[in-house]
Amino acid sequence: MSTLLTLIKKYDILRGSKTDLFFFMKIFLDTAETDVISKYFSTGLVDGVTTNPTLIRKSGRNPEDVYQEIKDMGVQDISMEVVGSDLEMYDEGKRLYEKFGDVCTVKVPCTREGLSVCKALSDQGVKVNVTLIFCAAQAVLAAKAGATYVSPFVGRLDDQSVAGLEVVRSISELYRIHGMRTQVLSASIRSVQRAIRSWYNGAEICTMPPKVFDQMYDHILTDKGLEIFDNDWKQVQQ
Ligand code: G3P
Repeated sequence: MSTLLTLIKKYDILRGSKTDLFFFMKIFLDTAETDVISKYFSTGLVDGVTTNPTLIRKSGRNPEDVYQEIKDMGVQDISMEVVGSDLEMYDEGKRLYEKFGDVCTVKVPCTREGLSVCKALSDQGVKVNVTLIFCAAQAVLAAKAGATYVSPFVGRLDDQSVAGLEVVRSISELYRIHGMRTQVLSASIRSVQRAIRSWYNGAEICTMPPKVFDQMYDHILTDKGLEIFDNDWKQVQQ
């Protein structure tokens, strides 16, 4: 009987978590360059886009024009970061959600103000991505505040000689043990290896610069193998 109860509990945890909704190994592009997003989104392999103030500044464009263009491409999940006081972030988040609808994920920093905005918006069914996460404790608070996503910054942790992937693993494991629905969105990804290891360590999503996405296709042995196959095929035809 106790085995049966354990199994039922496990099943409930699985059902209550992410497995029934196919949240597996999603790829988001971390950029505000719409030309590039359009090129890679057309592959059918990209599930969403994350932006931040730095990326918007680099694009040199009005943020809402950028969001609109990404939405028009058909991207279903766009992280739009808000800044300022709690009230300013809340108002702006609400306004963005009303303007862009369900594709809008409001991105807030993991601060006291950011998490109170996260709670208020999440309670109203708005998706929130809590960014600038650097440890499991912050991820626990973000999950309790109803975050849809938490974004641990792998590369910036690595820069400080802290293993970013270990932080991803701790957060994923905590969420799994406690059946939390919040998804781990691994950010600040600067190599294919970090993306793959993020998924391996339990992240549901990796957001990556387009260059890293592009590199995911490549392997020297694929190129070499293709060269041999092409040559052999030519000989077959002769
Ligand atoms: O999504 C956050 C990410 O853009 C930060 O990346 O390379 O500036 O640390 P990076």
